Amino acid sequence: MSDDPLLVHEDDPYNAETRTSALVGREITPNEAFYVRNHGPMPRLSSEARIRVDGLVERVTEFAAGELADRFESHEVTATLQCAGNRRTGFLDVRDIPGETPWGPGATGTARWRGVRLRDVLAAVGVREGATHVGFTGADLSDAADPPSEFGASIPLAKAMSDEVLLAVEMNGEALPLEHGAPVRVVVPGWIGARSVKWLTRVEVRDAPSDNFFQAVSYRLLPAETDPADAGPGDGISLGPVALNCDILDPATGTEVHAGGVTVRGYAYAGGERIVTRVDVSIDGGESWCQAELLGEADPWTWRLWTCDVTLEPGTTTILARAWDDTAAAQPEHAASLWNPKGYANNSWARVPVRVRPA
Ligand code: MTE
Repeated sequence: MSDDPLLVHEDDPYNAETRTSALVGREITPNEAFYVRNHGPMPRLSSEARIRVDGLVERVTEFAAGELADRFESHEVTATLQCAGNRRTGFLDVRDIPGETPWGPGATGTARWRGVRLRDVLAAVGVREGATHVGFTGADLSDAADPPSEFGASIPLAKAMSDEVLLAVEMNGEALPLEHGAPVRVVVPGWIGARSVKWLTRVEVRDAPSDNFFQAVSYRLLPAETDPADAGPGDGISLGPVALNCDILDPATGTEVHAGGVTVRGYAYAGGERIVTRVDVSIDGGESWCQAELLGEADPWTWRLWTCDVTLEPGTTTILARAWDDTAAAQPEHAASLWNPKGYANNSWARVPVRVRPA
C-alpha cells in the first residue's frame, strides 16, 4: 500500500483525495493529507494580493490579504469540508459519469480553520439595503467554465453573517497552504466545498446568487435524463447545505479480513446546521442493524467518527452503514435512486464488500 496519504486523480489541474487509511480514526485531517479539489492551475498570490469588497456596500474597500488578520478579530472554527462529488464512485455501478473525477470517500476532511469573520468585514464596509447574497471570486482561471473564467460562488447573506463563516488564513495552526487557497480562502461550514472559494480576490455583496459558472451552471443537481452539455444558468437544483452522509473507512473496500470480531470504522457528517445522532451498521444486507458508537462531541460543523464491533463469518459479505440526523432523517438506501448526470450528492448507504477468511 502507498505511504502517500493522497490518491492523485489528476495532475493538471491537481486533484487528489485522501486515502481511507489516512482518514480513519482522525478527527482532524493533517494538511498534507487533506483532499485537494481544483478546477484550474493554482495561482501563487503574495500577502500583498488585494481582496476587493464591492457591490451593495456603503464603501467599496480593498484589503491586502496580509492585512486582514491585523484589521479584524481572529476566530477559529473546526469544520469539515466535503466536495459535492464525494462518493461519486458509488454512482458508477448505476451508470457511467463521463468527464467527472471518480471521487471515492476521501473528498472530505476536517481542519481547524483560523481567520476573520466575513461578517466583521461586511460590517466594516457597510451592507446596503437590498443585499441578499454574497459572492466570492478566486484568482484561478478555469477552462472547465464556458467561457473560461475565474472560479466563483455565493452564499445567502444570512449565512454570510453567521458566526461560522470565515475568511481563513490558517489551517491546522499553519499558514494556509497554496493548494488550499493561500493567502486567503472562504470557509463555509455545513455547505458543499465549492462555496468555500480559495485564492480569494473579491467579495461582492449582491441582490441575487452569483452568476459565476460554478454557481449558476455547475454544482447543480440535474434530473437523470438531462445532458449536462445542454444545461444553462439556473437549471437543476443549486447545491448548498451538504446532505447527510456517512462512509466506512475500515475495512477498506475489497479487502480481506479474518473471520471473527472485526471493528468497522468510519465517518458521518450531517451537513447544513444539523448534527449526526445515530449510525447503524449491518452485515446481513440490512435485515438487522447494530448501533455504532459515536466518538467525540456532536457539532454541526464537523463530521462524527464512529466505530462498531461486528462478527463476520467466512465467505464474502457487504458491510452497510447509514447515518441519522437530528431531524430523524436517514440516508437513502440506493445510489440508483439518486443518480444524476454530474454525479453529485451521493449520500446513499455506505457499502463495503469484503472477503472473510477463516480465522
Ligand atoms: N476555489 C477556487 N478558487 N477554485 C476551485 O477550484 N474548488 C472548490 C472549493 N474552492 C475551488 C475553490 C471545491 S469544488 C472544493 S470541494 C473545495 O474548494 C476544496 O477545497 P480544498 O482543495 O482545500 O480541499
